[in-house]
Amino acid sequence: MVIHAIKWTDEMAVGVPALDEDHRKLVALMNKVIAACYAGVGKAMVNKAMDELDAYTKEHFSREEALIEAKNDPNLGAHKRQHQELIAELESLRANLHGTEIIPVLYRWLIVHIMETDKGYSHLFKDA
Ligand SMILES: [Fe+2]
Repeated sequence: MVIHAIKWTDEMAVGVPALDEDHRKLVALMNKVIAACYAGVGKAMVNKAMDELDAYTKEHFSREEALIEAKNDPNLGAHKRQHQELIAELESLRANLHGTEIIPVLYRWLIVHIMETDKGYSHLFKDA
């Protein structure tokens, strides 16, 4: 089966409305990159989609870090380091991948982070 898009599922929800909304938007932006790769529209268009994903990722990470910092999350330092790594990975992806092989890589890039790290802060917001 060929996957043409990353599908948002409720399993990805962290339970913080503003951050879930951000994550949904990031999935949509990833799908724009994927669509550009499939359409074979050339590097310029893929890079344009990548620019949008890159900019919103940085904006989102800052918002997420500020919210969890306000909750005194002891894992904040490790979480911030992961965000820095993800930003660096996106840069190397951009340099190396422009075909459909980008899809599973993008999926691992952010969805695994949401499912494994971001869901770890959900409990901090339970009583909010
Ligand atoms: Fe995160």
